[in-house]
Amino acid sequence: MCDDLRSRSVAIIGAGAAGAVAAAAFEAEKYFKKIRVFERRESPGGTWIYDPSTPPKLPLQPGSLPRDTDPRLAIPSDLPKTTSPNHQERYAQTPIYDSLTTNVPSIAMSFSDIPFPYGPFVPHHIARQYVELYFAYHKVDAHLSLNTTVEDLTLVPSPNSGSERWKLTLRKHDPVQNRDTWWEEIFDAVVLANGHYSIPFIPEVKGLAEYMSLFPNRVTHSKTYRSPFTFCSKKVLVVGNSASGHDVTAELVQAAHLPVYQSRRSRSRWDGPEPPPGIAWKAIIKEFLPSGRIVFEDDTHLDDVDSVVYCTGYKASYPFWNAKKNGGPLYDYEANKLNHTYLHTFFRDFPTTLAIVGMPRVLTFRSFEYQATALARIFSGRDGGRLVRKGKEDMIRWESEREERCSREGKKFHDIEWETGETWEWLEELYRIAGLPLLSGEGRIPPVLGKEVRWALENIRKYPEPGKDGGNSEDIMADDEWVVVGNDKKDLLAFI
Ligand SMILES: Cc1cc2nc3c(=O)[nH]c(=O)nc-3n(C[C@H](O)[C@H](O)[C@H](O)COP(=O)(O)OP(=O)(O)OC[C@H]3O[C@@H](n4cnc5c(N)ncnc54)[C@H](O)[C@@H]3O)c2cc1C
Ligand SMILES: NC(=O)c1ccc[n+]([C@@H]2O[C@H](COP(=O)([O-])OP(=O)(O)OC[C@H]3O[C@@H](n4cnc5c(N)ncnc54)[C@H](OP(=O)(O)O)[C@@H]3O)[C@@H](O)[C@H]2O)c1
Repeated sequence: MCDDLRSRSVAIIGAGAAGAVAAAAFEAEKYFKKIRVFERRESPGGTWIYDPSTPPKLPLQPGSLPRDTDPRLAIPSDLPKTTSPNHQERYAQTPIYDSLTTNVPSIAMSFSDIPFPYGPFVPHHIARQYVELYFAYHKVDAHLSLNTTVEDLTLVPSPNSGSERWKLTLRKHDPVQNRDTWWEEIFDAVVLANGHYSIPFIPEVKGLAEYMSLFPNRVTHSKTYRSPFTFCSKKVLVVGNSASGHDVTAELVQAAHLPVYQSRRSRSRWDGPEPPPGIAWKAIIKEFLPSGRIVFEDDTHLDDVDSVVYCTGYKASYPFWNAKKNGGPLYDYEANKLNHTYLHTFFRDFPTTLAIVGMPRVLTFRSFEYQATALARIFSGRDGGRLVRKGKEDMIRWESEREERCSREGKKFHDIEWETGETWEWLEELYRIAGLPLLSGEGRIPPVLGKEVRWALENIRKYPEPGKDGGNSEDIMADDEWVVVGNDKKDLLAFI
């Protein structure tokens, strides 16, 4: 099933918010003859699809990374081919829990052209409906290939034309016949929009692996958390203090044995001097003992804990990336970053044929829109060569300067701050690259980041901050009053 179109075909991997706006932006360009969106789930929506039953027991291994826990599938030879269905865990279910609402005011979270139906913080099903409908609003729903997982993405050098193409190996699951069909398609350009909140991460801690085998099912991850009522009257320890750690701990107070314990590595902006009623704070875990005792860095301990819920986040995974044939790995797990990107969006080795939408930790849907608009312009060659003129050296310099700065300031490469103006600079750069649409009307217009949006971000908070949202500023504790809890200087939007 190969396609001979040149310079006009684009594959988008994933039908979450990033895939939706990418498809809409490419469609608006009225240049591409073939746009395909491959989505492994049964519908668009990405993270926002709610899976009411918790996933089957996920393979959790302390400290392990997706290259071990989410390996690529063996690809059958002689495609196309139909095989028995895959049974390897692909982590396709989402971490959405019953009560989850959005945590960014809707005016700032939604795409610029269509508002959320209400706000400011909508329940998860609204965000799912919104993403699903966005495909229809922009008449790109017909480009979707659902139940279709991209299992391999390989560079196909094109010595004659000078520009590379990309071969996708695809696996479509047929739930009725209970079988998988495999085939290949070739595209001129590819957008990675496959998200990065699928593979749960739990850190390596002394004794944890043994504790997990001695006490099976005691340790879980927030990915499988759905409701506090499965923890009725249980003694629970939550690990982590970002959005999941906060929400899970607060909600468990309704059902679990009190206090609910929360182990924190750092303080969030919404933490006051004392834990809220029903919650007891603990330091980082130092060791799990075979007796079941959990010892903390401050040498306090807990015995007889019924459940440990790790809310320690996720690791990006690209099992489909053919590192051998594409010149090296896409992601560097030691540095926690994508390799060789420019502006967290472009890949300097393939600036006009490969890109990613949705990686940085920053405004979500709204920034995906700037990324997608810039990409549609570049992939259609209508950016006036702005990106290519930048040159590889500039892109290398951007990456190394950012690496140096992040290591100097103890920041993560793909975290983009709001308060320092970094978000503004990044969006402005994408805005410039996108430029205006054609006078004849083809092409999406990059949105303005207006006063109302900026005001909402800075003033409408889901999690009230002590001293700012009705609290007392004297309540904020000095750094030296904290045990093993550091980094007091979280950005206003660090929780996103
Ligand atoms: C619990 C939770 C709550 C969140 N709450 C908020 C919030 O309140 N506000 C906010 O702004 N952001 C929130 N986020 C961040 C959220 O991830 C983004 O808002 C946004 O939905 C990300 O969109 P995406 O398209 O980049 O990724 P995703 O939504 O993850 O979509 C990626 C899609 O790619 C598909 N896919 C992956 N691999 C393949 C493959 N190989 N082949 C085919 N398809 C594939 C996946 O099935 C998925 O549908 C939350 C995240 C989580 C985990
Ligand atoms: N809409 C909502 O209400 C909602 C709810 C849940 C999640 N979310 C979203 O889901 C995404 C993921 O959030 P998340 O909270 O699951 O993950 P996260 O933001 O990545 O947070 C991970 C947490 O684990 C801690 N941690 C990581 N490694 C650790 C280690 N080795 N030892 C101790 N602690 C460690 C981190 O501490 P440090 O902070 O010190 O690094 C942080 O508190 C985010 O986009 C978030 O906005 C949204």
